Amino acid sequence: MNQFCNGQNAKLIDRRAFCTSLAMLSVWHQPALRASRIPSSVHPQIEEFDFAALRGPETPRGEFFVRNHFAVPSLNQRNWRLKVTGCVKIPLELDFAGLVREGSKTISVTLECAGNAVGGGAVSTARWTGVPLERLLKRAGLCSGVKCVRLVGADRGVEDLGRAPVFYMRSLPVEKALHPDTLLAYQMNGDQLPVEHGFPLRAVVPGWYAMDSVKWLVHIQALDHEDKNIFMTERYISTQWRSLGSERQPINKMRVKSQIARPHEGELIERGPYIIRGAAWAGENRVTQVQVSVDEGKEWRPAELEEEGRAYKWVLWKYPWSTQRPGSHAVMVRAFDDRGNEQPLSRDSHRLDGYELNWVHSVRCRVKQSP
Ligand code: MTE
Repeated sequence: MNQFCNGQNAKLIDRRAFCTSLAMLSVWHQPALRASRIPSSVHPQIEEFDFAALRGPETPRGEFFVRNHFAVPSLNQRNWRLKVTGCVKIPLELDFAGLVREGSKTISVTLECAGNAVGGGAVSTARWTGVPLERLLKRAGLCSGVKCVRLVGADRGVEDLGRAPVFYMRSLPVEKALHPDTLLAYQMNGDQLPVEHGFPLRAVVPGWYAMDSVKWLVHIQALDHEDKNIFMTERYISTQWRSLGSERQPINKMRVKSQIARPHEGELIERGPYIIRGAAWAGENRVTQVQVSVDEGKEWRPAELEEEGRAYKWVLWKYPWSTQRPGSHAVMVRAFDDRGNEQPLSRDSHRLDGYELNWVHSVRCRVKQSP
């Protein structure tokens, strides 16, 4: 069971029981069932994209992973308002129509949860349309000395047992908040933003792990000090073991990563030609190469990228394989980016936390005895 990120009060569903009941329901040629999300918690809602169902560059609505800390707030577009306050010259309050009038920009962005497992389904890609955050910040006029911009959601709950309820919030350094690609999105894949993805408005912070893409956005605050809220100081922090204690660093930029969609773990395949498929991404950087090994990592060969790697968005890749040898095979993948980063073969043994899990993805499949 993979409960990605660290939901505190999750009521977990037994994933195997869920899959078994799906298998009993499903018959061959019923792809709609296979393509639904895989739940791992009901309260709060946590559901994975079924990575084996990867078909194209955009993840359809209903398949895109969901990761909530608390219950989904009920927001009504008519009453909804967005406030911009804190260290600004002109505080703003916008209604939905006013926000949309600020103009729009559309960008394809892969969101990945910072705790997405190797080969996991807490990653998906969509076309997001919205207003660059920069426009509102410029209109409000940031005062000198602003250190970060806090994004506050309308959802609230107990993040740490025994402590008071808190709103979900994250802060961005000013440079990332003012980057022209950091969006306040009100559309996903050309349609209204679905409720579970932040209706009516969410942040989309391209190239950064998805906890910064705050959903159900209601308040933007410019701060002249470091943000010390629990989501900045006690969550999404990497911890490295050191000979003298440990070192803590905030997590933000996504690391280069690739995953295999096909074959899936345990798949039984025919002898002969088979296309291995998957996706690779590198956050703010570009994927330049994906390599596949079909012999336990002894030899690596380049996979074919379906388009040129671009910042923010995953690229689909494929690798034609032909095997005559029946039995068990390990298929492995690793990606490289344009900044000289590559996926490591294993986890850094000094890491004590559960984030940035980007080591080589390996899948074991079986080739049948006879065709
Ligand atoms: N925003 C709010 N308001 N509340 C949340 O719980 N979860 C964050 C982020 N934004 C969250 C949030 C986390 S941890 C992730 S991984 C992404 O939303 C998931 O976005 P998605 O559910 O649209 O896939």
